[in-house]
Amino acid sequence: MDWGMQHRLANIIPPNSGRAVMLAVDHGYFLGPTSGLEEPGKTVAPLLPYADSLMLTRGVLRQCVDPASRIPVVLRVSGGTSILTELSNEDITVSIEDAVRLNVSALALSIFVGTENERRTLANLAKLVDLGEHYGIPVLAVTAVGKDMARDARYLSLCCRIAAELGARIVKTYYCEGFEEVVGGCPVPLVIAGGKKIEERAALQLAHDAVSRGAVGVDMGRNIFQSSNPVGMIRAVRQVVHENRTPDEAFRFLTGLRGAAA
Ligand code: R5P
Repeated sequence: MDWGMQHRLANIIPPNSGRAVMLAVDHGYFLGPTSGLEEPGKTVAPLLPYADSLMLTRGVLRQCVDPASRIPVVLRVSGGTSILTELSNEDITVSIEDAVRLNVSALALSIFVGTENERRTLANLAKLVDLGEHYGIPVLAVTAVGKDMARDARYLSLCCRIAAELGARIVKTYYCEGFEEVVGGCPVPLVIAGGKKIEERAALQLAHDAVSRGAVGVDMGRNIFQSSNPVGMIRAVRQVVHENRTPDEAFRFLTGLRGAAA
């Protein structure tokens, strides 16, 4: 693996812990102004000191993130659909030249296994991997799940393995019952999405269960930026992911911050 590729991967998964807290704020690319991200710049700025990397689109990156922040960027480069249509109908939406200009640490693209656009999104992944490898930029594949598809270990193992076989350097998936099976079948590092907003204690448990069963970390969005205390929440997630704190310890830290603020 060349130096640039290794350097970028180390930006995403810091070698001191081998774990990653990625902050996902790319939701607007198909959801529009998601709750908590109406003004992405305001949401993101206080969270940056606690994120290892930031996952977002180039539009929000250019307009809302200070280039002097030095945050490693995971650039969402697939899209072209909205919540109103068929989500799997994605294309690659950013040229590799623009990704290089933006100095990104990784490129992120969704695959939709088992949908009518399976072949197209997998071919997009393979094409993006060729481009990324040429410039030393890792590709993170997101195993997107159609509305009616089960997020079980059998299905997610299939998606993650296909993504890795096609050359993704990191795979983002969902946590599920039997997650060890998903990890065991995937030869590259896995991170989990947080999913819909749930209680903070439960989100910390989710992060803990994922890393203790082999994920290298989280690529979490709504459970951080929709929290009543986003900075406290990302700090609590860091404790679980990087410091192996229990969900109870991290939750006590979070509620302690609330108590201090009150
Ligand atoms: C979905 O495809 C997007 O890439 C989100 O970044 C992802 O779902 C992670 O965000 P959340 O933790 O809110 O699910």
